[in-house]
Amino acid sequence: MKKILIIGACGQIGTELVLELRKRFGNENVIAADIHDMENSQFLGGEYVKMDVLNQEQVRTYVIDNKITEVYLLAALLSATAEKNPDFAWKLNMEGLFTILDLAKDGYLEKIFWPSSIAVFGPTTPKDLTPQYTIMEPSTVYGISKQAGERWCEYYFNKHGVDVRSIRYPGLISHTSLPGGGTTDYAVDIFYHAKKTEKYTCFLSENTGLPMMFMEDAIRATIELMEAPAENVKIRSSYNLSGISLTPKTLSAEIKKHIPNFEISYQIDFRQKIADSWPNSIDDSVAKKDWNWQEEFTMQKMVLEMLSHVDISKI
Ligand code: SER
Repeated sequence: MKKILIIGACGQIGTELVLELRKRFGNENVIAADIHDMENSQFLGGEYVKMDVLNQEQVRTYVIDNKITEVYLLAALLSATAEKNPDFAWKLNMEGLFTILDLAKDGYLEKIFWPSSIAVFGPTTPKDLTPQYTIMEPSTVYGISKQAGERWCEYYFNKHGVDVRSIRYPGLISHTSLPGGGTTDYAVDIFYHAKKTEKYTCFLSENTGLPMMFMEDAIRATIELMEAPAENVKIRSSYNLSGISLTPKTLSAEIKKHIPNFEISYQIDFRQKIADSWPNSIDDSVAKKDWNWQEEFTMQKMVLEMLSHVDISKI
């Protein structure tokens, strides 16, 4: 019987992943954990634990005592926040991972999901249709932590047989929960401002291309990868996923089709440099071949969903 623990459950991915996993595997088998007091009444259907992923003793004891079989480790600082607090970002993004990898190595977990990111790529990486295997010289603290994490995941798989699985998420776009501290956040913020004031000031320049993905696709990808037979999961560092390639200009033109008075202006900040170091688009043919990945959301479909669902009282 599966018993799943999601650490970082109150974040952008966790909020939706908990609900989807509960739908599939039952409320009683999916436990949400985060450092905050429970903020999200959506989690009321099942157990919620206040947990600090840096408290190794607490995490180990909880996993062992509650016979957890799978962990989704989502607690992390994203790219923009990490640049402001590099020491803490490195500590949080790495120490939590070792705690979970070691629990699996010691035989207490059957499977782990750990998210990586397009941030593992850097300025020397080919920018268009970035391949699965390519030059990786990340230039952000977040990217360095994700690249190191990928190497450790693969090492624990090869050396200790740990069944760890990972996706290099593109920027994630969702209407349920706001992102926090990423460089790709503009692609979520823009919908709230378009609906509320018909104006948005973007912190990236108009032709900055970045790969993005609608959350519903990202959640499905995550669960499909975790449910794939182990022998199909040939990559134990992390899989490229492509999603939709967007620029602020193409996204705002699509929004304008629904909100004709919408206007975008630009005020570039430090996040531009981070975005410039990341790919424009991603080649995910290996994920397609290994575990039959297929995305569903086009830009048009995603924009429609976002405009009809974002709740402007949240900003
Ligand atoms: N969306 C993340 C960020 O912008 C990338 O993984 O930091």
